[in-house]
Amino acid sequence: MKDNRFKIAPSILSADFARLGAEVEDVIKAGADWIHFDVMDNHYVPNLTFGPMVCKAIRPWTKAPIDVHLMVEPVDSLIEPFAKAGADYITFHPEASRHVDRTLSLIRENGCKAGLVFNPATSLDWLTYEMDKIDMVLLMSVNPGFGGQSFLPETLHKLQECRWVLDQYEKKTGKKILLEVDGGVKIDNIAEIAAAGAEVFVAGSAVFSGKNYEGYKKIINNFRKELDSV
Ligand code: DX5
Ligand code: ZN
Repeated sequence: MKDNRFKIAPSILSADFARLGAEVEDVIKAGADWIHFDVMDNHYVPNLTFGPMVCKAIRPWTKAPIDVHLMVEPVDSLIEPFAKAGADYITFHPEASRHVDRTLSLIRENGCKAGLVFNPATSLDWLTYEMDKIDMVLLMSVNPGFGGQSFLPETLHKLQECRWVLDQYEKKTGKKILLEVDGGVKIDNIAEIAAAGAEVFVAGSAVFSGKNYEGYKKIINNFRKELDSV
C-alpha cells in the first residue's frame, strides 16, 4: 500500500545515460514518486554530470516532479535555465552561493520550489533566517559527488534535529517544509531513516541496480514495505 507520507526519488546518476528517457519512464511506472537530478560541475564536487538541456530532454518522459540537486558553484546562473527546462524543485548548497537569500528568491521567482542542501559537516544554522523562503531541506548522508557510497550513520541524529526544527516551525506558522535525505539509502536502512524524520528518500544505486522495469518495481515495493513499518 502506497503511504503518501513518503516519497521515493531515484537519482538518475545511477541510470543508464544512453537510455535516460526510457529509464525515467520505467522507474516512475515502477512506483517511484520523483526524479532526483544530480547536477555536478567538477568544481563544487569532483565529478561532472549533466545540465539544463538533459533536464529538458527528460521532461516529456514523465509528469513526476523533477528534483534538481545543484552541486555547482556559482549557483545563480543555472536557476533560470533549469526552471525553463522543467525543474519542479531546485536545491543548492548554501556554501556555493555568495547570497543565499537572493539565490532562494531567484528559484521561487522562476516558479520552482526551493531547498537548501546540507553536507554532513554543514550546520543547520543556515536555516535560521531562511525558513520562510524554503520548501524543502535536503540532508546529505554521504559527501556529495558520487553514487554508491555508504550511508553516514551520524546523519540519523542530524535528521532528528532537523525534524524537530521543521516541526516547531510548522506548529508556529502552519508552513510545511519537506525533509529529504540523499546518499546511501538502501532497503536495510530506509526504515530507520524514516523513523529519524525523513520523508523524501533519494536512492540511486539501490533502485537502478534493478536494471529494468521489473527490477525497479521489486526494489521500490520492498522500499514501500519497509516504510509501511514506520
Ligand atoms: C551524490 C548525489 C546523490 C547520489 C545518491 O552527490 O547527490 O543523489 O546520486 O546515490 P546513492 O543512492 O547511490 O547513494
Ligand atoms: Zn543528489
